[in-house]
Amino acid sequence: MRTIALVTQKGGSGKSTLAACLAVAAQEAGERVFLFDMDPQKSLLKWGARRNDKELPVEAISAAKLPTALATLAKGNVTLTIIDTPATETQASEAAIKAADLCIIPVRPTIFDIWSSETTRGKIKTMMKDYVFLLNQCPSSRETQRVLDGAAAIEAMGGLLRPLIASRVDYQEAAREGMGVTEINEESPAAEEMRQLWTSLKKRLARLKAGDKQNKKAA
Ligand SMILES: Nc1ncnc2c1ncn2[C@@H]1O[C@H](COP(=O)(O)OP(=O)(O)OP(=O)(O)O)[C@@H](O)[C@H]1O
Ligand SMILES: [Mg+2]
Repeated sequence: MRTIALVTQKGGSGKSTLAACLAVAAQEAGERVFLFDMDPQKSLLKWGARRNDKELPVEAISAAKLPTALATLAKGNVTLTIIDTPATETQASEAAIKAADLCIIPVRPTIFDIWSSETTRGKIKTMMKDYVFLLNQCPSSRETQRVLDGAAAIEAMGGLLRPLIASRVDYQEAAREGMGVTEINEESPAAEEMRQLWTSLKKRLARLKAGDKQNKKAA
């Protein structure tokens, strides 16, 4: 089982939206997915209740209970756990970072968001965990100078996961329906970018796994 955590102290950057849409895209690609919502706002939990899908469980979890819950899931048939975290509650986000194989830091392409994400990255680095940035809510023309500058600034801070995620009404519509963007319109640009996102994430997770094995061999 691999564990991904969506983390950033900046509110509204898209942690819950991306957790939900990625979970659905990964499930469609054959993963058995479990979602944890650590945010007292419970956005993801409400999305899950609306969805009511036994194949894609969503549970609230505290920082204290997370390690045991993940250990139990790892013994079963779940292949991917995605953790959504609150922007402000440090105990929860620290527990998620600690538990994750990979942290995703969603960032909107604005300078304030990019500055904020440096703090989150600093924390993850201190904890010696793997992370990658994801640019979300980009203008749908995408290649504006602001976005290109944002992508360059983020590349300089660490890895930037591709593709860039555009700002699209589909993300908001899907959330409202308890669905993923790949479900409300499977031919849409949003669906395509979410499938591509899962493909790049899967590759990155596989690279981490290969690295783990090499480290164990070397030890
Ligand atoms: N790619 C996108 N296109 C359009 N709207 C988006 C996109 N991503 C997120 N949003 C919208 O932005 C808002 C914030 O998203 P979301 O709640 O997922 O962020 P968050 O990081 O989980 O926020 P919080 O820190 O408050 O939990 C929501 O209204 C959501 O619908
Ligand atoms: Mg949220």
